[in-house]
Amino acid sequence: MNPPVRHAVPPTFDVHLHDDWRMRALVDEVRTGLTAAPKQLTPRWLYDDRGSELFDRITRLPEYYPTEAEREILLARSAEIAELTGADTLIELGSGTSDKTRALLDAFDATGRLRRFVPFDVSERTLRDAATTLSERHPGLHVHGVVGDFHEHLHALPDDGVPVLAFLGSTIGNFYPHERARFFDEVASWMSDDAWFLLGVDLVKPVDRLMAAYNDPAGVTAEFTLNLLDVLNRELAADFDPSGFEHVGMWDPNHTRVDLRLRSLREQHVSIIGADVEVDFGEGEELQVEISTKFTRDQIAGELADAGIAVTECWTDTAGDVAVLLASKSTVGT
Ligand code: SAH
Ligand code: TRP
Repeated sequence: MNPPVRHAVPPTFDVHLHDDWRMRALVDEVRTGLTAAPKQLTPRWLYDDRGSELFDRITRLPEYYPTEAEREILLARSAEIAELTGADTLIELGSGTSDKTRALLDAFDATGRLRRFVPFDVSERTLRDAATTLSERHPGLHVHGVVGDFHEHLHALPDDGVPVLAFLGSTIGNFYPHERARFFDEVASWMSDDAWFLLGVDLVKPVDRLMAAYNDPAGVTAEFTLNLLDVLNRELAADFDPSGFEHVGMWDPNHTRVDLRLRSLREQHVSIIGADVEVDFGEGEELQVEISTKFTRDQIAGELADAGIAVTECWTDTAGDVAVLLASKSTVGT
């Protein structure tokens, strides 16, 4: 007998980030962040269409080890994760192109239990493209994309069935400690007893490897961070001259994180008309763009435990560069 023909189900979408909301958030942030000392913006603005494309190029740089290391783990462990969890729903935060996620989807699909894939991202174009591609690749799977901010819209995640919430690519490393603690608390309160959390983190390693990964010689990372100024010029009619800034990536040993900044090459004045702000940069003055925290296994497991989340498995790649943790709600003390 022939297997039943499964027709592709078109993806559906929820959009929590409307243009007016996004614009208000950007204006607020520019007003506070660019008048503060030190100057600072959050990384979500890096991922416009061009930024998402540049990030995709970063993941293919030979110096940027995290993507292939995490892919190695997912390819080796997805079947085990599917078995252990018995998941019928895969949710992915900061899903981007969902490229590595294919390993998980293939393994979950093979169990016959997978019903739904919920990619969640701020970048609407990238999310829509990925959702469409994946629903064509997995006929019968309901792909439901959520355009949202993971600092604001976690309440929009489905919590029924047996969900695995994946947060890969060491995006958790881009959170400041207070954001991380709040995020883990929110994940814990979202989790039912049947839910699982799959977290990808980058591990502490020698500084020269980190510097190569975040200051690549081809300059793609510099293009990625400098693109932030183009976003501000376009969205807020600002007059940043990107050639007046340079990309800086440096290691902060006290916080075990790479600090990514844009440094002003000269004294300059910038008008940001859409936010009604005038900003002065001194020569050498820096704008903080993003951090990328590196963890030890004990540290991350400890932070999860503080939120009431217990690690069941912790896998690393053969080189020991990155880790993927599988966790569920801690039953200790409840
Ligand atoms: N998971 C992919 C992509 C990681 S890059 C990987 O492992 O390679 C980080 C992703 O998070 C991007 O797709 C970006 O658009 C998204 N992102 C950044 N800030 C976000 C925010 N505040 N809320 C939701 N998604 C965000
Ligand atoms: N989550 C990625 C990381 O921390 C994001 C990233 C990679 C990134 N390269 C970057 C962010 C360069 C800013 C600049 O590795």
